[in-house]
Amino acid sequence: MSSQIPRHIGIIMDGNGRWARRHGRPASFGHRAGVRAIKRVLQACEDLGVHALSIYAFSTENWTRPRAEVRALMRLFHETMQREIDEMHRRGVRIVVSGRREELSPRMRERIEDAMARTANNRNGILNVCLNYGGRAEIVDAARNLIRDGVPADEVDEAAISARTYQPDLPDPDLIIRTAGEHRVSNFLLWQGAYAEMLVSDTLWPDFGEDDLKAALAEYASRVRRFGGRPEKEVMAG
Ligand code: IPE
Ligand code: IPE
Ligand code: MG
Repeated sequence: MSSQIPRHIGIIMDGNGRWARRHGRPASFGHRAGVRAIKRVLQACEDLGVHALSIYAFSTENWTRPRAEVRALMRLFHETMQREIDEMHRRGVRIVVSGRREELSPRMRERIEDAMARTANNRNGILNVCLNYGGRAEIVDAARNLIRDGVPADEVDEAAISARTYQPDLPDPDLIIRTAGEHRVSNFLLWQGAYAEMLVSDTLWPDFGEDDLKAALAEYASRVRRFGGRPEKEVMAG
């Protein structure tokens, strides 16, 4: 039987724009509130014994948003990383960033590399920030690396691809939560999420907190994961 507490949760943090609109403010106001929600949920994961949290912060498709919004988001990521790194490090959280880093600004890359290097030996949980992340881009990048590594076609298997994903050491997500009520994957963890339990919450991301996470964990604990098999109690005699 699998553990009742997911080891790794992925979150598609959606609804910042709607939350801002409800408050009569621009999207960037919602994104700022979204950062506060990340802090709450990270703390709740630590308290509840969830080892790894992957958060979808910016997709490879989000560059198509209005320039002012993209700029505000990048500024916010940079600022947040700078402001929160000390506390994360003190709490023993390891920070990793997944996505096409070469398309980010040099100063953002520097921040990211610094945060990853400083927290590399931390063992009290992992925060995987998916930034300029796309599940398809990740698979394309893995394929490129297979070719670069000279792997012959008949040696390409799932393990060879998994080893070339952005975070090969992270276990696959057990649970993927999407907030703000939309029932779609939007290019998040396509490879790793093959057997993740999916959960959609109607709460807009800036309003998401410990109680919502607890509700998600209770729902997760009630699910029967099958991984394509047939649970013994369903097997009929004869
Ligand atoms: C998610 O909130 C945050 C990012 C994509 C960066 P949205 O900005 O997509 O919120 P809605 O979907 O417009 O409400
Ligand atoms: C997914 O949300 C991306 C992130 C949460 C970063 P979107 O708001 O971009 O997804 P769509 O456009 O509704 O599918
Ligand atoms: Mg959205």
